[in-house]
Amino acid sequence: MTDTIETDILVLGAGGAGLCAALHATDRAPRLSVTVAVKGLLGRAGCTRMVQGGYNAVLAEPDSLEAHCLDTLKGGGWINDQELVWRLVTEAPRRVLELEARYGCFFDRHADGRIHQKPFAGQTHDRTIHKGDLTGIEIMNRLSEQVWVRPGIRALEEHRAVALLRDEAGRVGGALLLDIRSGRFVAARSRATLSAMGGGPTMYRVFACSADKAADGLALALRAGAPLKDMEMIQFHPTGLIVPDSLMTGALLEEGLRGAGGRLLNGRGERFMARYDPGRMERSTRDLVARAAFIEVTEGRGTPHGGVWIDVSHLGAEFVERNFRGMVKRCRDFGRDLAREPVEVGPTAHFTMGGMVIDTACQTPVEGLFAAGEDAGGIHGANRLGGNGVADSTVFGGIAGDTMAEWVAGRPLPRLSGASIEAEATAVTAALERRGEESLYALQSRLRDVMWERVGLIRTGAGLQAAVGEIEEIAARAERVGVAGGPAFNLAWQDWMNLRHQAQVGWLIARSALERTESRGSHFRADCPGPGPALVNIHVRAEPGAPPRLWSEPVRLTRHRPEPAARAVTAEVGD
Ligand code: FUM
Repeated sequence: MTDTIETDILVLGAGGAGLCAALHATDRAPRLSVTVAVKGLLGRAGCTRMVQGGYNAVLAEPDSLEAHCLDTLKGGGWINDQELVWRLVTEAPRRVLELEARYGCFFDRHADGRIHQKPFAGQTHDRTIHKGDLTGIEIMNRLSEQVWVRPGIRALEEHRAVALLRDEAGRVGGALLLDIRSGRFVAARSRATLSAMGGGPTMYRVFACSADKAADGLALALRAGAPLKDMEMIQFHPTGLIVPDSLMTGALLEEGLRGAGGRLLNGRGERFMARYDPGRMERSTRDLVARAAFIEVTEGRGTPHGGVWIDVSHLGAEFVERNFRGMVKRCRDFGRDLAREPVEVGPTAHFTMGGMVIDTACQTPVEGLFAAGEDAGGIHGANRLGGNGVADSTVFGGIAGDTMAEWVAGRPLPRLSGASIEAEATAVTAALERRGEESLYALQSRLRDVMWERVGLIRTGAGLQAAVGEIEEIAARAERVGVAGGPAFNLAWQDWMNLRHQAQVGWLIARSALERTESRGSHFRADCPGPGPALVNIHVRAEPGAPPRLWSEPVRLTRHRPEPAARAVTAEVGD
């Protein structure tokens, strides 16, 4: 049995993008009904809350919007959508002021009252606004308080999206939700639907993002016919914790440590970045630092548990404890003293730069479907700068909310077929109804190994080709898994749905990586280690009932052209 609800605007996901979208939509058009559906608890789930580092925005000279734009393009290996980047950098200062003045956030300040901005990698100015090293908690607490007090917003917690629903003309008219607690399906009909579910590369063995993520938005978008771009671009953050036999492994020590002067040392005590980027050393961009750390380990110069050391003890224990309170506590939880000794870290899958194709108003080419945050592609190109993530989600979330509030005016609710809704529900309940001969968790573990080993920091054409085949096999075997128990609060059933999405998006990453026969940003191919002759975006789209089709398109250089030297930087490591 499926319940039905109707809403003007449906927001899927409740991180920074989803909550900013809901707030903007309801504040712009208070008579509209806005529904936010989130897989976990509102304000608690997702990745924005986990952001320690901060928020990039230009507040004062000598920094400038042009500098922020150019840093983002250089960091992104010049395949970013330049119009989206310009929108990001021009809106970010306004959004920061809105977060403080309208929603009640309070960021760290200098004694004279100016907002404090700290140095982050790949940036020509100190630009990263923060609340100590717990910035995401400040943003999410304040945004969720604002959502709870607005009567126009209905929150559906522990409701995951199972499918985007389309009418006969192919327009998205809502989503099929699953109430995780009761196990009942809810068909949410909406005039406009925002995908803001937050990507999340949890299909890798080591990952930093919230464990409730399974790239749901990207998997559902592909099935709904939305085009995606640059899916091969996965960011590996260089300083994920290594805590043997603990789920803490992969959790971040944020970039502010490197910005403040933190040193990275290999197992022999050498500052190895001198070999890879002597100019910027530890303040090089994440793609280069992560790959350098990975190479140190694979060439036998790693730490006892297969990582490198981050050392901030020379900055002074009092400085570290005052400025990095959250990380000091996090390390203390497993017996390390970040302020006084080196801590073992290694690369961890952190962020999907690829995602849905959107325009500067967050519209996808599929009518009725909008995207913001990590579900959208194009903003960060081949590598995201630290601090641009939460700026992206709040800026484009707000834009999406404003756009949808105007877009829905005068549009009827799309007519959805009951049979197609029931077919979507049946496709997921099937796992509860079969006995199954496959182990869900063995398949998930195999997928994570394949992704890490063949679609990770250093790739080859042969390895990617093999990975595509292995992922296809895992996906096929996942369809033979049987899950014990009923639909109500069945976490194994949730994990099975996650596995399907992880495999589907893992396939997109591997297949797109095979298509990109060059090295750029976070995508490094040992069999083609330099940049290719042309700047291209890799696109992928699936028509209903047909396998995904991939193609490349030249990058549109609408504002800036790369200087030859700037293009070479992306391929320095491993040459
Ligand atoms: O947790 C963090 O500080 C991450 C920040 C970022 O990736 O921008």
